[in-house]
Order: sequence, then C-alpha cells, then structure tokens
Amino acid sequence: MSLIEFEGRSVIVTGAGGGLGREYALVLARHGARVLVNDLGGGVSGDGGSTSMADAVVAEIKAAGGQAAACYDSVATPEGGRAIVSAAMDAFNQVDAVIHNAGILRDRSLASMTPDEVDGVLDVHLRGGFNVTIPAFARMKEAAYGRIVLTSSSSGLLGNFGQANYGAAKTGLVGLAHVAAIEGARHGILANVIAPGARTRMTEGLLGPEMDQLLDPAQVAAMAVYLASPQCTQTHEIFSAGGGRFARYVLGLNDGWYAPQHPASPDDVLQHIDEIRDLDTLQVYESGADEMAVLRRMAVAAGMLPAPS
Ligand SMILES: NC(=O)c1ccc[n+]([C@@H]2O[C@H](COP(=O)([O-])OP(=O)(O)OC[C@H]3O[C@@H](n4cnc5c(N)ncnc54)[C@H](O)[C@@H]3O)[C@@H](O)[C@H]2O)c1
Repeated sequence: MSLIEFEGRSVIVTGAGGGLGREYALVLARHGARVLVNDLGGGVSGDGGSTSMADAVVAEIKAAGGQAAACYDSVATPEGGRAIVSAAMDAFNQVDAVIHNAGILRDRSLASMTPDEVDGVLDVHLRGGFNVTIPAFARMKEAAYGRIVLTSSSSGLLGNFGQANYGAAKTGLVGLAHVAAIEGARHGILANVIAPGARTRMTEGLLGPEMDQLLDPAQVAAMAVYLASPQCTQTHEIFSAGGGRFARYVLGLNDGWYAPQHPASPDDVLQHIDEIRDLDTLQVYESGADEMAVLRRMAVAAGMLPAPS
C-alpha cells in the first residue's frame, strides 16, 4: 500500500506521449489515478502531429490495468487548452490535478533568434500554461480542490546559452504558479513548479554518455507525481528533480541597503553596491506584499516612517 494514493482522482498530463510526461502518466496510473494523456504527437521543435504517441501511452496504462484516455489537442491555443480540460471532464467528470509538461525547443543565440522562434516556444510553454491552467483552475475552484504542477527549467531559472525564448517561457511559468498558489489557497488548490533534468529526445546528444545513463526520466516522476497528489501539502514552491537528486529552488530577497537621504543618487548605489548585494539577510517570502513589509520595517528603523502603534 502506497502513501501516495490517487483513488478516484483524475489528472491531466500535457505532453504525456513521450519523455517525462509518459513517465508521469505511467506512475500516476500505477498509483490509482485516471490519467488524461494529452499529446500533440509532433517533433521536438513542434512540427507535425499524430495520435500515435498519446494512444501508445494510453494502451500501455490500460494493459497494466490502469485507467486513461487520450487527447491530441495542442496546449498552444486557448481552444486547445479548453479542449484538453473538456476531454478530462468527458472522460472522468473531474479534474483534480494538471501537470503542464508539454514542451518544444527552438534554440538559437539571441542575436539571431527570429520572432517565430520566440512565439512558437512561448505559445507551447508559457501561453500553454495559461491555456490549460485557466479552464482547469475553474473546475478546481468549483470542486474546492486542485493540484497544479507547471514545468520550469534550469535554462530559465539559472540561464543557458541559446535558450532565451525557452528560458523566458520557463521562468514565466514560475510567475503563473506563484499567483495560482496565492489565488488558489482559499479554494484548496495548490500550485508548484518542477524543474526536471532527464535523458529525453529534448536533451539528446547534450548530456554526454555518463549523465545520459544517470538521468533516467523515471527518476523525475516521483516528484511530479507527489506534487500532483492529494498527499502534497506544499504550495508556491519550485522543486528540482533529476538523476536521483531532489532539491528546492528559491527566489530570495535580502534586506539590502536603506538610503538615509532620499532620493538616493547613482553615486550612492555605486558606494553601497556591496551592502545592496549582500546575501546574509536573504529570505524567501510568500507574496509581493512581503517586499513592502521589508521596506516599511527598514523605513521605520531609519526614522522615515512612524513606528506602528
Ligand atoms: N529533459 C530535460 O532535461 C528537461 C529539462 C528541463 C525542463 N524540461 C521540460 O520537461 C518537459 C518534458 O520534456 P521532455 O524532456 O520529456 O521532452 P519530450 O520532447 O520528450 O516531451 C515533450 C512532449 O510534449 C509534446 N508536445 C509538444 N508540443 C505540444 C503541444 N503544443 N501540445 C501538446 N503536446 C505537445 C511532445 O509531443 C512531446 O511528447 C518540457 O516542458 C521540457 O521543457 C525537460
């Protein structure tokens, strides 16, 4: 008997016809979830399309005694996103969790990147996140329960040469997840981000033979499935998973330097840049409003605002 249990729950996995999404779908089904296997069935750059990838994963789940339905719509349009959520409602009558995992690559260094390369990648990753999350969030709000998992990447969170379009889209999804977590809190909806690392067609030839061997996509599924599960209690967080290592990313904010004279000049910034950058006071906050609380505290300490009564 597993601690993680999806009995009676239905989960949408976008891009579940191969790579990481397929692993997520298989592990979810093994834990009792009814899985909507969404995949456009195209190439790694988003070209083409077919029903065979999603169908193969559904067949694999059913052959193992699990429950799954296929859906071939693209996450890249609002209509596609609505169709994916409708397909889950038609098949299972509820949407308990969404793992937005679909993705493509159109790498190019910044100086030569074309608008098509930017749009195509933003459409699938970032707009795809909205296209699927918005209709799913509405269903979850009605049910007063939901789990949203969005897929980021070290390519955006930390940066990677030739992936400005992809990195920006992947980091944009963090903003979507943070706000979904804040808005979802009162409705029983948790939202988190996974930043995976795995040997898939997307990373083919990039990792080298040793890391290729280590980075089995099956190693990532545990984290994605946990975040989608009823047993998950975290929200508003970003997790790294790959090769057997599980970790947490944070966006921190330090206290910085409070200028005694206002407005501060560029010379002041130059003279205090080390204090501004110092990470000794780094903290992880819950919302944008918390930054205002830090400012208020420092302004009160500097005598610029009255102490709260
Ligand atoms: N593999 C890694 O190391 C790694 C690292 C960081 C992030 N990621 C992210 O993990 C996710 C899964 O990637 P992967 O490595 O398994 O690659 P993959 O290419 O094997 O899987 C992506 C899947 O998404 C599907 N897809 C693409 N466009 C779609 C669309 N418009 N609508 C529906 N489905 C669509 C593809 O057909 C494919 O099956 C992606 O979001 C990727 O950016 C992967």
